[in-house]
Amino acid sequence: MIHIPKTEYSRRRKALMAQMEPNSIAILPAAAVAIRNRDVEHVYRQDSDFQYLSGFPEPQAVIVLMPGREHGEYVLFCRERNAERELWDSLRAGQEGAIRDYGADDAFPITDIDDILPGLIEGRDRVYSAMGSNPEFDRHLMEWINVIRSKAHLGAQPPNEFVALDHLLHDMRLYKSAAEVKVMREAARISAQAHIRAMQASRPGLHEFSLEAELDYEFRKGGVKMPAYGSIVAAGRNSCILHYQQNDALLKDGDLVLIDAGCEIDCYASDITRTWPVNGKFSPEQKAIYELVLAAQEAAFAEIAPNKHWNQAHEATVRVITAGLVKLGLLEGAVDELIASEAYKAFYMHRAGHWLGMDVHDVGEYKVGGEWRVLEVGMALTVEPGIYISPDNQQVAKKWRGIGVRIEDDVVVTKQGCEILTGGVPKSVAEIEALMAAARVQAL
Ligand code: GLY
Ligand code: MN
Ligand code: MN
Repeated sequence: MIHIPKTEYSRRRKALMAQMEPNSIAILPAAAVAIRNRDVEHVYRQDSDFQYLSGFPEPQAVIVLMPGREHGEYVLFCRERNAERELWDSLRAGQEGAIRDYGADDAFPITDIDDILPGLIEGRDRVYSAMGSNPEFDRHLMEWINVIRSKAHLGAQPPNEFVALDHLLHDMRLYKSAAEVKVMREAARISAQAHIRAMQASRPGLHEFSLEAELDYEFRKGGVKMPAYGSIVAAGRNSCILHYQQNDALLKDGDLVLIDAGCEIDCYASDITRTWPVNGKFSPEQKAIYELVLAAQEAAFAEIAPNKHWNQAHEATVRVITAGLVKLGLLEGAVDELIASEAYKAFYMHRAGHWLGMDVHDVGEYKVGGEWRVLEVGMALTVEPGIYISPDNQQVAKKWRGIGVRIEDDVVVTKQGCEILTGGVPKSVAEIEALMAAARVQAL
């Protein structure tokens, strides 16, 4: 399995500390354990910012970064080793492991944080934290600050500035390093395999969940712990529900099925959508819509390169889709006017993509100073145009109703343009039909 190397976490901490103001401190908590019901917990998923800076996989931990501190810039508070808990739950790194395996300069038990952290904050002018995103942690932070304030008469110096860490950290996360791209390529490869497997298994009479099971099988077999988001397996009219997740309907002969699914590795997501005919053969209407979405996606790829701005790819998809819908008789009027009046939104109501990384809808600004962000090498994004013709749309001929198509790939901006990470899944009508036909022959 390909992972982010330990050296990369250390490089990130140094890069963040280099951008922090002198005499400051950054404090970040691990994700809390979420209870599912009574004694059952949700599968633990580390907080993306915390993971980005530490690679430390446990809950009940706090990262403290203090640039320039003589006795160590990186302190990790974490759980102590505990034979009883380790027998029931899982092994713990403990303080020794935090230093030995995760590069902390020093580590303390999380149960001692109230005694130790105020002393680390004291004398620093500025505190960086993810203010507002974790009210309980914000409250703790203020308690630690108040401990220092209460000792002001003894000469203690509380910090006076509180700064949102997001601005620095999320801008760093937007630019993917070679190691990050490598992990994202691997997540994309396994996700592509999963889509192929689902395509091969597709048959009328199965259910949406039958195909979801094929995805999950391929993810787990690839060593991946979990999908990056709830898989969408949407057949027939369900393909027109953008974030459909019930995944329990019958796969009917003559219908399309839209699958939007991807796995994550070291918290790095892949996000792939493919749409195909349940029975392996596109109808003329399905093919017409499919090829229009595909053409829109191709047009978008051509607009992803350094110095092009974020919205150019979206604008390209809007133009191709609007012109195509006019040609098919689904929209009437002049293309420019239909774009200006946003008439296409009845069929294409979302944007062409989003940043992709440790969060499937990743952090990073889309506009800077009011202008669309200019693309740079290392930025990762999805390209996912779609057309959804509502089953209830009385404005269009019946033969079009209930067709929903999205095609989604993941790309990284390169010097020349972009690298498509998810090219491993067939995409043209001919390729999809050939793959599905071959799977049928094999099954006979
Ligand atoms: N999977 C959600 C999205 O494509 O944005
Ligand atoms: Mn997406
Ligand atoms: Mn998606």
